[in-house]
Amino acid sequence: MPPDPDLEAVDAAADYARSIGADGLLSVGGGSVIDTGKGVAVTLKNGGRANDHLNLLTLTAPQTPHVVIPTTAGTGSEVTNIAVLTSHSAGRKLFIADKFITPNAAILDPRFTMSLPKRMTVATAMDAMTHAVEAMTSIMSNRICDAQALQAIRLITDNLPVAVADGKNEKARLNLQIAATLAGWAFTMAQVGLAHAMAHTLGTLFHLPHGEACGIILPKVMRYNVDHATDALIQVAKALNVNTASLSDRDAALAAADAVEALMKKVGHPVQLREVGVKEDVLDMAAFHAICDTAAIFNARPVNDPGEVAALYKQAY
Ligand SMILES: [Fe+2]
Repeated sequence: MPPDPDLEAVDAAADYARSIGADGLLSVGGGSVIDTGKGVAVTLKNGGRANDHLNLLTLTAPQTPHVVIPTTAGTGSEVTNIAVLTSHSAGRKLFIADKFITPNAAILDPRFTMSLPKRMTVATAMDAMTHAVEAMTSIMSNRICDAQALQAIRLITDNLPVAVADGKNEKARLNLQIAATLAGWAFTMAQVGLAHAMAHTLGTLFHLPHGEACGIILPKVMRYNVDHATDALIQVAKALNVNTASLSDRDAALAAADAVEALMKKVGHPVQLREVGVKEDVLDMAAFHAICDTAAIFNARPVNDPGEVAALYKQAY
């Protein structure tokens, strides 16, 4: 399966499933595989091609039964109602979002993540971290998904360095899986935000691992949001083990962004886009794509100026 789930992959898998008369799906893989499986579930049930089914909230019945076994700990796709699929003809990532594409069952077994290389362990964990932080700061946040998001942040903070040092540490791997699932639940309610909008665009343009793009962008967006989500970011800082006792509210909120960057440096995650092959001369154009991404709608600070988004990309560069 390609690292970037696309409509062609869904069509190819759906054609194969039809050829063998499949009436159920088992996805074993990371978010790309599970999102592809969600697309297949809809295409098999409703006929036609994947491109016919890119919609929000239009399904009216359960889809093809779909069981998933995640092999990464990041996407949360095992519990989410969204599939992110690249359309090469549109030149961007598009979505199916509907409660009926949430997998029917998910099996979290840490042994399926133990062989995940360090780079993808870190990147996928930063995807989950971004889901959790953006759920906290979203305009759709509520006290139930806040609890899930904060626990996810605590688990990632405490267990990611352990899993990076020893990929076979079953307890740390399980805690990261649980964190990813909690963060997935949280953002299913609260949605995500500008960091995801910007990361989706970088993923399409440069084929960056989604979590790596999220991680690099996240602290910049947290600082951008600081006056619109101060209380939420203070809670995030505490979950990241920041001692906020002597800090003003604004400084405590900003300290959350610093702590995310410190965690990334500790585990060997890149912190600038130039480190991962992004070209500076496309960032102005990327900003226009990012503000059109659905995720930007839910950002704590209203996003309607591509110049501001371009400035964030340049900070991250
Ligand atoms: Fe994500």
